[in-house]
Amino acid sequence: MNKIIFFSGKGGVGKTSCASSFAISKINQNKKVLLVSTDPAHSTSDIFEMKINNTITTILDNLDAIEINPEEESKKYINSIRNNLHKIISPAILSEINTQLDAASVSPGTHEASLFDKMLSIINTEIENYDYIIFDTAPTGHTLRLFTLPELLGSWIDSLVKKRKKVVNYKKMSLTDKNKRKNLEHDPIIEILNRRKENLEKARKIMIDQNKLSFIFVLNAEKLPIDETKKAIEILNKYSIPVGTLIVNRILPKNIKDEFFIRKKEHEIKHLKTIYEYFKDFNIIELPLLERDMDFKNINELSNFFKTDKNLV
Ligand SMILES: Nc1ncnc2c1ncn2[C@@H]1O[C@H](COP(=O)(O)OP(=O)(O)OP(=O)(O)O)[C@@H](O)[C@H]1O
Ligand SMILES: [Mg+2]
Repeated sequence: MNKIIFFSGKGGVGKTSCASSFAISKINQNKKVLLVSTDPAHSTSDIFEMKINNTITTILDNLDAIEINPEEESKKYINSIRNNLHKIISPAILSEINTQLDAASVSPGTHEASLFDKMLSIINTEIENYDYIIFDTAPTGHTLRLFTLPELLGSWIDSLVKKRKKVVNYKKMSLTDKNKRKNLEHDPIIEILNRRKENLEKARKIMIDQNKLSFIFVLNAEKLPIDETKKAIEILNKYSIPVGTLIVNRILPKNIKDEFFIRKKEHEIKHLKTIYEYFKDFNIIELPLLERDMDFKNINELSNFFKTDKNLV
């Protein structure tokens, strides 16, 4: 049974709605679920009409939720680096570094690295407490960058460690005092980098473990979401990250009288055909377009569509 499920897909296709409905379908099967949202718009709070913040909050029996704010995490992450540096760097250099760290805290790479850190710590600390941890993520590109990060960062960290070891060695050679030399054996920067690398390796292991993690892609039966899903799945496959299930959301009803919607339905049928042909080895679930937009009642209604014999995750 896969425990960690990522809902991904193009902006606005219904990731938050589907992740929430899926969570409800699981608690209805008596499973314990943690729903994690990385959406700064706080849509999960809106759907469940409850204030959910960055600590785990119980929203229903067997359903807990947490909303991570990437910007806040980014600031925390940079501050933790700042605190570590305080211990090892002179105040004069520190003020220069502080300016650079402030700039770094708003850069996109930092957002992703810090978000990734937070997701990992949630996985590591909560995996034993839940049957499922469901991540409702930001639109595709962002999530993919997040997932390809460990590989990219891994070799970057290796090169930083190498450089730092050289610096420490030079320092050691310049010292005559034996005790001072011994102090340098536990260089805090190398330790931080090594811990970082260990975390990334742990993450990578979880990601490629088909029994632990899976991706569910949400799309609409339209050209752009289909194209984006094809590309995203190709990238994930390249990194050996499994995707087995697609949700085609907002399917129009069958009996339409209106001319405009009849033509729209024809397009939908054509796109659905493409989806079933291209993704023939996938589990595909169709969810109907509901009359009203998402609220708790609708989420419950959609959750019924996950009652299927197909092995979704
Ligand atoms: N099956 C559906 N029937 C009717 N409305 C829907 C359905 N699915 C989603 N919606 C509506 O579509 C809008 C977008 O849905 P949602 O917020 O779930 O998408 P998202 O992919 O999470 O968006 P974002 O990329 O901004 O995070 C919302 O207003 C939601 O109420
Ligand atoms: Mg969303």
